[in-house]
Order: sequence, then structure tokens, then C-alpha cells
Amino acid sequence: MLKITPLTPTLGAEIVGIELSRPMATEAFAAIKHALLEHQVIFFRDQALGNEQFVTWGEQFGALMKHPAASKHHADIDKLAVVRADETTRNAFGEGWHSDQSALPEPPTISMLYINTLPDVGGDTLWSSTYRAYDALSTPMKRLVNTLSVFHNNLKPNRGYVFTGSGRVMHHEHPLVIRHPDTQRCALFANRLATTHIPQLSWAESEALLAFLYAHIEQPRFQCRFRWSKNAVAMWDNRCTQHTAVWDYFPQVREGVRLTVQGHALVAAFPDQVEWTNERPVAARLG
Ligand code: SIN
Repeated sequence: MLKITPLTPTLGAEIVGIELSRPMATEAFAAIKHALLEHQVIFFRDQALGNEQFVTWGEQFGALMKHPAASKHHADIDKLAVVRADETTRNAFGEGWHSDQSALPEPPTISMLYINTLPDVGGDTLWSSTYRAYDALSTPMKRLVNTLSVFHNNLKPNRGYVFTGSGRVMHHEHPLVIRHPDTQRCALFANRLATTHIPQLSWAESEALLAFLYAHIEQPRFQCRFRWSKNAVAMWDNRCTQHTAVWDYFPQVREGVRLTVQGHALVAAFPDQVEWTNERPVAARLG
């Protein structure tokens, strides 16, 4: 019997009563999918999972893709990205508010992270609900953002550092307000790490509105914070959440593996209102 305990009224829930290493009954699978849609990020503690078992579990939620920006993948399973920070790390993976790979034309729907090495204390991850952030906007502000699109670029997170991922530059125009295909709820789709500009506005207007939206989304009232324990799993929906890894444990080690579920083109919440620009998505090769 699954027990689902919310972390906050906004998002996040811990689920007990299931071993992810075992085949999942149809009812358990339906309950987990439902919990993810309702709570947006869900957690399972004390899971003894081999790499293959983690992949088998993850595949039930959609086709897995190789993470294009991870610097290290499992030697035999390229869809399993290795997340590690230690005494040699200069930039920890996942630090800074973002949704995964938002510059792809089809951003991932779901991500899953399994952490098996932890520092003595620290290394938490925070998530924020972009549903709640949208819902909390005033009506005039909603009217404005409903009409806009945003460009996301995967080189923005590198901040001038050498790019260690696949080398592919992605630059894509998404709606600023998307409609989740399963819940039909509206969510903001702009994040500090990858969003570059709002093309319908002047540069100054775009900078000001994006700065407001980032600060708005990152408010504690829209967040939950997960304190990891060894062998815990987190699973989140990138269409309605953002997250940031807290790198407060240097030089200690934190390591895990993560899976990414292939996404789909994002749908504008109000398609008739968005004025798409003529800027074409650019995909180029570095070097
Ligand atoms: C990420 O997927 O962005 C990393 C999250 C984490 O390491 O907590």
C-alpha cells in the first residue's frame, strides 16, 4: 500500500510502500503517475537499485534520452548520466534555477535522480512550482505574459566556461506560458540559467520582465526543499517545475545517476494570443 505525504501545500511529496527494483503493479504505476502530476516532484527513500534496475524503472515513464549537457555518462548505459561533485569540482552540475534542457525544441518531460554518495551534511535540492508562480500573477500581468514567447539557449549556463557536453548549440523559441498536456494547467516557462530574451519586447523591457519572473518563481512560497538520504530517488516534471542543486559541501563528495525522459514540443496556453517572432531557431556546431 502506497503512502503519499506532501512536503508542502505547493509541491513535493514523499512516497513510501514501494520498492522500485521490483516490477510495478498497474495500480502502483497509476498512483505514482497521478502523484507526480499532482505534486510535480516526488521522492522515494531507501531504494536498493542497480543501474539496470533504475533504467528499467525509468523507461516505464517514457523513452529515455542521453542527457546532452552531462559531462559523464555510465560506460555501458549512455542514457544514465553521472552527477558528481568532489574536491576537483569548479562548477557543480545543476546549480542555478532551471528546468532541464529547456533550449531543446522538445524539452524533457520527466527527470529522475538517484543519489548514493552524500556529504556529511548539505547537498539538498530545491524545486519551485511554475504552476503556482503563474497562478499568483495579477490579471494584468497574466494578460501580458500570455502573449509572449521566450528564447532559451543551452550555452547560457556555461557563463564562458568550456562547454563539456555534446558541443551542440541549441537556441529555441518557446511560449512563455505553456499548457501542461495532462493537467491542462498553465505554467511559466522561463528560467535564469537558459532563458535569453523575450523577442516581442525591447532588450531593456525583456531584461526587466525576466528579472521579475525569475525572482517571482524562486520565492520560498512556491518551493520545496529535499534533504537527501543515501539511496533516495527524486522524480520531477520539467514542464511545471524548476530546480537548483545546493553545492554547499565542497570539498566533500556527492554522487548519483540520473535519467531523462524524452519530451515534446511545448504548447502555448493561449495559442491565439502569442505573437511568434521571425527569429529562427539556430542549431550549430562548436569549434
Ligand atoms: C540536476 O539535475 O539539475 C541536478 C540536481 C541535483 O544534483 O540535485
